[in-house]
Amino acid sequence: MRFPASLPLAVLALAVIAVSPQLSQAQAAAQTPPMGWNSWNYFAGRVTDKDIRDSADQIVASGMKDAGYIYVNIDDTWEGERDASGVLHTNSKFPDMKALADYVHSKGLKLGIYSGPGPKTCAGYAGSLGHEEQDAKMYADWGIDYLKYDLCSFIPAVMQKQAPNDKAAQMRLMVAAYDKMGKALKATGRPIVYSLCQYGWDSVWEWAPGLGGNLWRTTGDIEPRWQSIYDILSQQKGLASYAGPGHWNDPDMLEVGNGKLTLAENRTHFSMWAMLAAPLLAGNDLPHMKPEIHDILTNHDVIAINQDRLGHQARYIYSKGEVEIWARDLQGGAKAIAIVNVGSDLYSTHPFHLDLAELGLHGSQHAKDLWTGKEMELSNNMPIELVSHDILLVRIANPK
Ligand code: GLA
Repeated sequence: MRFPASLPLAVLALAVIAVSPQLSQAQAAAQTPPMGWNSWNYFAGRVTDKDIRDSADQIVASGMKDAGYIYVNIDDTWEGERDASGVLHTNSKFPDMKALADYVHSKGLKLGIYSGPGPKTCAGYAGSLGHEEQDAKMYADWGIDYLKYDLCSFIPAVMQKQAPNDKAAQMRLMVAAYDKMGKALKATGRPIVYSLCQYGWDSVWEWAPGLGGNLWRTTGDIEPRWQSIYDILSQQKGLASYAGPGHWNDPDMLEVGNGKLTLAENRTHFSMWAMLAAPLLAGNDLPHMKPEIHDILTNHDVIAINQDRLGHQARYIYSKGEVEIWARDLQGGAKAIAIVNVGSDLYSTHPFHLDLAELGLHGSQHAKDLWTGKEMELSNNMPIELVSHDILLVRIANPK
């Protein structure tokens, strides 16, 4: 396209945006961290078309949709075999993907899917190697809105095979594979959120946004145990500057309501993922969700922290004994502060004295406790008692 040389720069810039709808659409897709649900953490390889429909129904009926949960993501094990023309078919658990997408869309929700750059997915189903463009086009034809792309078999099948003993060359192959799918998605013209899943290798946060990545896993797989959640939380220190509108660190999907997590642990897990500007992808059994789990997942104030349009991921500020303090800046000069008892003695409390100066605050602060909903005063050195693995999460509207 040619522009007359006399056009002012601002007009030129507008014209460039107007002729690049794919770019602006893709960026618009994840201006705040994606929210939704993914099948893996609860259903793993058992997930069926019916489970996805039931979950979509439940997202609407439970009020989760109104709270912001929009993506319904099918994880691994939907894939069947490729035919002679390379077209990948679904397996018998998913008889008609287009019909499923239409169903999910009819609820005002969006549908996500899963694949990987290797010959096989992590669960041993067909991957996209050599069929990237074909698969991306098929996703777009089906009406898919989100792709999680998982490295797995690409490691032995391509990286280790083509570049044995050459770590740097292996990493280049990996980046090229993610770039290839990023370009294939863009070429479809459909806005599809691009989620990289390669466990944080090669400082993915540095290069993923450049190839169209909207989010990227920063760690290995989460498990519904406090230690797993705490380990992952600890690994997010230092990553805040890489997150922002359109591109997010992904400390993995939520385990809220799964396993034997206590109420305090569920609350802390959800609070900290909100603080981290992490994608909020619930992973529990929605039709059988307990009321207290529903209340955690739909806490409006906590979700508002996660979805704050500044997109500033929380930073680790300091710790004292077994208590950690994290904070993030919010729109309009507000601040969110998380005070977490990470100690392992489950039933003991650890009185802790908050040092406001460490947070750059001066004197008493008027705050809202986002779990009780009560207004409170945070004063310097005030004792705070938290049960092990519990959290005090506050929002200060006008920090001083
Ligand atoms: C990997 C991913 C998980 C899940 C499984 C599916 O382990 O990290 O999130 O997608 O594969 O097989």
